[in-house]
Parts: sequence; structure tokens; C-alpha cells
Amino acid sequence: MPAKTTQDTPREEPGDLQPEPGDPGRLGAGRPGDAPPEAVTPLLRGIAVLRRLTDAPDGTLSLSALERATGLARSTVDRITSTLARMGYVRVDGRDVTLAPRLTELGNAYLAALRLPSLLSAHADALADELDESVSLAVADRDGIRFIHQATRRRAMSLSFRIGDLLPAERTAPGPLFAAEWTRQDWTAWRERRSADPTDRTFPAVPPREHEAPDTDFEHRTADAARNGWALDDQLIEPGLVAVSVPVRDPVTGRTACVASVVSHTSRHTAQDLRASLLPHLRTAVSAMENTLRTAPPPSPGTSPSNLATWTTTSKQELGRDFVESLARGLTVLTAFDEGRPELTQSEVAKATGLARATARRALLTYEHEGLVRAEENRFRLTPRVLGLGFPPLSRTTLPRIAQPHLTALAHRTQESASLAILVEPGEEIQYTARASTPRVMSVNITVGTRLPAYATSLGRVLLAATPPEHRTLGPLRPLTPHTITDPSTLTRALTTIRSQGYALVDEEWEEGLRSLAVPVHDRTGATIAAVNISTHVSRHTTDSCRAHLLPALRETATAIETDLHTAGRFTPVPLT
Ligand code: PHB
Repeated sequence: MPAKTTQDTPREEPGDLQPEPGDPGRLGAGRPGDAPPEAVTPLLRGIAVLRRLTDAPDGTLSLSALERATGLARSTVDRITSTLARMGYVRVDGRDVTLAPRLTELGNAYLAALRLPSLLSAHADALADELDESVSLAVADRDGIRFIHQATRRRAMSLSFRIGDLLPAERTAPGPLFAAEWTRQDWTAWRERRSADPTDRTFPAVPPREHEAPDTDFEHRTADAARNGWALDDQLIEPGLVAVSVPVRDPVTGRTACVASVVSHTSRHTAQDLRASLLPHLRTAVSAMENTLRTAPPPSPGTSPSNLATWTTTSKQELGRDFVESLARGLTVLTAFDEGRPELTQSEVAKATGLARATARRALLTYEHEGLVRAEENRFRLTPRVLGLGFPPLSRTTLPRIAQPHLTALAHRTQESASLAILVEPGEEIQYTARASTPRVMSVNITVGTRLPAYATSLGRVLLAATPPEHRTLGPLRPLTPHTITDPSTLTRALTTIRSQGYALVDEEWEEGLRSLAVPVHDRTGATIAAVNISTHVSRHTTDSCRAHLLPALRETATAIETDLHTAGRFTPVPLT
């Protein structure tokens, strides 16, 4: 079956606006390519919207572009996007809809259930360090390959793929290794896809195919791969890009669990060179991976989503027609899967999500039709296609991008400027990395990129307070105003207080008339990686009012940023800048 076709998009039915939008309506049965009669139409539409956004540049489309791309009525697009926005899966900024970090929880559910990234990514990262080349892990996705991990070291001008990107098997090094296990039906589906899509237009991650490569090329490469236990990609995707791959076998079934690849550029290695010099290192790393799979302790069962019923009821009460309950319930079904919960029955899904069994059943049927779950003897598993729901663009997000909408909301709510900053080497200065300003109260114009001395700013003090005293670099403590702390031991005491109270209040020490309040932002391990602040003028807030009114709002903002960061960063590091 084609990896992606326009038939995936549910057509708008006449009379779609009736009855209640929240009702799990049905697609008409009997049309070719249609979903089964029990499929949940709003869920099909939500999936179509998420797929279009995933393939769009930066994960963003205007509402009218979404309307055109999905063939849905504008009112339907509005209700679907407002439901997705309520779930934290997209943001609607004016006319634009953008994928939001929380959506990564769907791909995270697949990656956690699969378990390979948690067990193998450290091996891939170590190999990338050892060779100073990119290393990736990919799984089979029908007649394509999909990346589940990337340790990227790509310097030369070549494409670098993201976790969740789908590539046509025949244009990659992992492809022939997976195809070595294909059935006759798999080969037929592959040939059909190739003739239906001769330029690889259904694989937006790769440049269009330019040269007619006969089917026999891939058939021969597959036979070689089966014999050799490795395969090469000699510039099949684009000029310069070369890769060598080795399968990682499942210790129980002996089948290929995933494929590890070393990726380089012809300016450093030819494909033959990769085989001669890097393949032995890759093989050693793959043996270590297989050993890890053999000796892995049983997974710990994750916690299942909670309070769903209350949450959907409240959302429906607040948003009315703009909240499509069947879409929200349906999407939650995917989050029932996790590490230690890779395979679930309908009743287990119902129990984990708090949904009625019939609701869980219909959502699972809908996903099965969309190729997002696979059923075997009444047990359901997520497929790699779940990564196609937003994961690739979101896997490349950064802390400033995650923080920006939260800073904007905070500035709007408090009518004060809000900023995000990090400590920069060697540790004497902070650098602003995101900012939402209101008419400015400072004489210095602060923009993203501005550096200021850490010791005299609230952001800097929070970051210094989180640094162990023996690693702190305070730099010269100059009196910037008559209030600036310039005595090192007074500053050290202030930092101890800041660390224990969890915030810094800096009162006219950096600039007269300026008061600023900052709190830390923590990563998943609890380490302070950045700080957020609000700055105000002495005439607008007393120090007491800063603590009483601004601090709670600032803390909520930091928590909201951390929640997004921890979700988006579960399987991929989120850069600080
Ligand atoms: C990659 O990890 O980017 C990659 C892997 C195998 C290929 C091409 C690219 O054949």
C-alpha cells in the first residue's frame, strides 16, 4: 500500500455540519478506499489535520491552507483545531496553526513502547562520538524506513533527517536489510507504490527522485544485503550523502529489530571507504546493542493518563461546539501505550484511559484503518506511523521556541516584559534567548542575544545560585547603581538564599528604577538549565507586590515551560539556543 496517498484525507460529507459536531459521526460506507463504518469521523479528520501540519514547513499552516489541504469545511477545520489547541497539540496564532510541543506525547508513546531508543541510543551516541560521524537507528515502516534515533554530526552540506522522517526503502542503506525479510505481498506493494509515485512525492523528507532506477537494482541490493549482513547507500538520496548499515537483531525472534547506520559525506569518505574503515566499528557497536537487548531488565510499566473524563467534560462545558469530544477521546487512546505497555487489549485501553469500552474499540478500529495501530489476536500495538503525527518538526524544537508562547502570555497577563536567559561560558554573563516585551521600562534595549553581567541581574543570580560555588565565576563586581552588591561574601550569601527560596528579586541593582524577579527552569533531571524573569518599574510594583502578584504568575510560566520541555525532550535533546 502506498505510504501516503491523498485518499488518506477524509472527504467532507454533505450535511457534515449536522448533527452535533461532538458526535462521533461516521463516514458513509461503501465508497472505495473508505474507512470502516464504525470509524470515528472527527478522529479521521484530526489525524488528517495533524499529518498536513507535520509535512508543512515549520509545522505551520494557515487555517485556509488547512481547509484546502484537507478538503474539509472551514467550520470543521476551526472546531478540530480548537480541540487540538485545547489538548495542547497545536497553537492557533491569529490565522496560523502550528504544532505544539505536547503533541510529542503521541510519538513518545510509540518510542517508549518500542523501547529500542531507551536501550540503544546511548550506543549510537557513543559510536557517533568515536567516529565523529552521524549515526542513526531506523525501523521498517511498510516499504519505507523511519528514523527512531539520530546522533547527528553532519558538517558538510547534506540533508540531515529527523526522528520520525520516512524515507523510501530503496533509496537508503537500511532499506535492503529490511527488504530481506519482505513477503511476496510486501514486494508487490512496493512495486505498486513505485509506479504510482515515480518521483517519491509521498516522501516529503527526501528530494524528488530524478533518475529512473529499475526495480531490479533494489532487488539485487536486497539479495546482497541478505548475504553480507550489511548494506550501502552510495548517494541514493542526494549527491554526497553516503551511509553504511547493519541490522540489530531481536534476541528472541532473530528478526531485524532496527537498523543502525553510519552516515557521512563523500568529502570525507566514499561509500567503499565506509565499508572498509567504518563498518568494523559499526559491527562492534551493533554487537553491543544486541547484547543490551539480550540482557535488558523487564520494562517498568508507565503510568496511564488520568482524569481524562473530568478534563473532557470541563473542556466541553467551556468550549461548547468548539470542542469535539470524540476527537479528544480518540487521541488519548494512543497515550495508553507506554514503556511496559507495548501491547494492549481493548479493555486495557479503556481501563487505562477511563474511556467506555465501545469508545476505545471504535478509536482502535479507526487507528487500524489509518495504519497507526496493528492488531494481532485482540492485542493492539502502535506502529511507527504514529511518528508521522507531528514528531519530525517537533523533534527539532529549541528551548526558546518552547518558551516563547509562554513568555508572550505572561507579558500579556502581567503587562510587564518577560525573558528567558542562559548562563554563557565562562559563567560571568547571561544571554537572553527569548523575550516578550511591553513598552520598555529600561534604558538599555534588551533583545534576544543581549549579554549582561550575571551578578547584578535576577536571571543571572538564579543561574549562579544553581551553580556549585566551586564552579562559579562571578567576574568583577562593579557598582552599576548605588544599590549593587559588590562584596563577594554578601553576594554568596544572597545566592544561598536564592537557591533555597527558589527565586531572585533584584531591586535597582542593575539599573535605577528597575525591579526584576527570576525563577529557574529545570530539565528532566532536575538540573537548572535556564531562568525566566519579569522586569518592572519601581513605580508599578513594590517588592511585596512583586512577591504577591508577579511571583505566582512567573512560577506558573516556568512550570508550563518545563512541562513542554520534559515532553518534547523525552527522546531527543532540546537545544538551549
Ligand atoms: C541518516 O541517518 O540520515 C541516513 C541513514 C541511512 C541512509 C541515509 C541517511 O541511507
